Amino acid sequence: MKQGWRWFGTQDAISLREIRQAGVTDVVTALYERKCGEVWPVGEIRARQAEVRAAGMEWSVVESVPVHESVKLRAPGFETYVENYRQTLRNLAECGIKVVCYNFMPILDWTRSQLDYPLPDGSTVLNFDETQVAAFDLFMLRRPGAEATYGPALCAKAKAWYDAATPAARDAAAKGILLGLPGTVDDLTVEGFRDLLRGYAAIDDATLRANLYAFLNAIAPTCQELGVRMAIHPDDPPRPLFGLPRILSTAADIRQMCQAVPYDCIGLTLCTGSLGGNRANDEVAIFREFAHRVHFVHFRNVVYAEGGTFHESGCHLTGKVDMPRLMRLLLDEEARRGEPIVVRPDHGRLMEIDKGRTCYSGYSYGGRLVGLAELRGLEYGLIHGSDLDGKVCVVTGAAGVLCSVMTEDLLRHGAKVALLDLHGDKASAFARELAAKGLADTLPLAANVLDRASLEAARDAILAKWGRIDILINGAGGNHPKGTCPAEQMTPDAKPEDTFFGLDIEGFEFVNRLNFIGTLLPSQVFAKAMLRDGGAILNISSMAATQPLTKVAAYAAAKASIDNFTRWLATHLAPMGIRVNAIAPGFFITNQNRFLMLEPDGKTLTPRGNKVIAKTPMRKFGQPADLCGAVRYLLSDDASFVTGVVLPIDGGFLAYSGV
Ligand SMILES: NC(=O)c1ccc[n+]([C@@H]2O[C@H](COP(=O)([O-])OP(=O)(O)OC[C@H]3O[C@@H](n4cnc5c(N)ncnc54)[C@H](O)[C@@H]3O)[C@@H](O)[C@H]2O)c1
Repeated sequence: MKQGWRWFGTQDAISLREIRQAGVTDVVTALYERKCGEVWPVGEIRARQAEVRAAGMEWSVVESVPVHESVKLRAPGFETYVENYRQTLRNLAECGIKVVCYNFMPILDWTRSQLDYPLPDGSTVLNFDETQVAAFDLFMLRRPGAEATYGPALCAKAKAWYDAATPAARDAAAKGILLGLPGTVDDLTVEGFRDLLRGYAAIDDATLRANLYAFLNAIAPTCQELGVRMAIHPDDPPRPLFGLPRILSTAADIRQMCQAVPYDCIGLTLCTGSLGGNRANDEVAIFREFAHRVHFVHFRNVVYAEGGTFHESGCHLTGKVDMPRLMRLLLDEEARRGEPIVVRPDHGRLMEIDKGRTCYSGYSYGGRLVGLAELRGLEYGLIHGSDLDGKVCVVTGAAGVLCSVMTEDLLRHGAKVALLDLHGDKASAFARELAAKGLADTLPLAANVLDRASLEAARDAILAKWGRIDILINGAGGNHPKGTCPAEQMTPDAKPEDTFFGLDIEGFEFVNRLNFIGTLLPSQVFAKAMLRDGGAILNISSMAATQPLTKVAAYAAAKASIDNFTRWLATHLAPMGIRVNAIAPGFFITNQNRFLMLEPDGKTLTPRGNKVIAKTPMRKFGQPADLCGAVRYLLSDDASFVTGVVLPIDGGFLAYSGV
């Protein structure tokens, strides 16, 4: 992740120097002095950018370019504000700032009832007390129809609270609820709020949604052209509030927006604390489903009290939100797109360290300092906590479709990987590709798995660079058309050359040698370097080994010999602390088999592809990344007592007889 921090410009109680010292690289800010709806001039953007750069950081995300209320309401004259918005995006892009956070929430940017909810250690956090919010709505705002929002039980609790509360307590709740975001200029009064609500009287959910989608579809082509990514902020909290329309509270809302605005540049800010403000939201599932449209991340956590009352957690890692799994997904998404995403620790406790500053819980220094450190530690632990960290791996056929994905995964878990491939240029190109993703602990080498001398030369080069070898993945292998038999079964009318009797022995030998000898020989060469400290070897079998597939006679036989050899070598090397296992991948669409599984349109299944899916209980092909967890397990110390196994990774193909 790129470590971000929201800075409210010169009026912020926290200086850029302090932010820099928190470990931040990316500042998230805006031209707060510009009124909502105005065009941001390039000169002012550059001046703010220069200020951030002078402090050693980059302004990479805007939070926010606010959307004028007339655009939300589609009120007369809104077109001018849409055009102004576009122009601001153009000006930002001209300065190289291309991620924009904003929201489409009517009137209130966020809602809490208490800004100084005390935690046991004396620090304070933001609190959303549903009883107080209901009391405000029912008895201070006196909104017609408010009872229906809350139901009788909550209304009764709200009344009890209101009757017992002192005027000061009521005022404090109202102030908390009506406070605009720090950095914005408006502090609303109850009367002012009532007026604003009247402006939304005629706007229901469907209208606000339509207005949002119309706005986004109007700016999307410009965003696409400029490379600007829009990251809408979800409703905070994502639940009905003061009768206002709420259109970005749930996965269904996000899905609807993504469908209505079919541009990947129009995405969202994954604000885990906001989404967490509704018990029913599953933040992990949301991230998983919309990962490719997450352009900016706010990580924070919430803790629930009774009912729908929650406060912000004293720790960014613990609470309702499953932060470790979200961080894992973030790392996966960053790996997929080959670039980091800006994450800011969202909100934080007001701690002793902030005494004397004019800031409150949420935008404090101490709380966010700790929050960022927690997130950084979690990320570091996920990357380097693996026992593959620092291990030296050799992967043959590393640039292949499946092996390249496994290789990248090993690198992301801290391993150093020698990338061996028959074609040195392919290995080097792959190494460059990895380096561009920040994965530079590689050594690309040309080596033929059927040529001992080239393997020994590779081994010497690896030992010279890293001094040891811990892991070998025998990845090079595959099928060849000459080792296959065109007819699935012998029938009286089959052409003899299409049957077993026409099998090309040289083709058969080639496939057999590539897979079997191509596993045996590298094992002999590289395991020698493991004799001192032990190690792990992983062979690549196939489900064809156990259940021969029609046509691919040589391949199935070769993979069967790999299974047998895996058990033999596991037994043989066990006293030396070298474990030998194999994976048996099911059907993954790769270059070798695409023509067998898919028609030329790349989508329609061939008759053979249909048969495969029909016999796969999970009813889908595997994705190369599906192999990574199993591979890591077999290579890690978690599998320290596991040797000689062949693990199917096949969506159940082997388990199912087809009947
Ligand atoms: N693709 C599948 O669905 C599937 C299923 C089961 C098993 N497998 C097995 O997984 C392994 C990896 O498959 P993949 O899809 O990544 O293969 P791939 O064809 O994409 O890549 C194989 C790589 O090995 C290299 N190579 C070929 N001959 C070599 C040699 N003599 N010495 C060194 N390198 C050589 C190639 O240059 C290529 O980069 C293979 O053993 C394959 O049989 C694949």
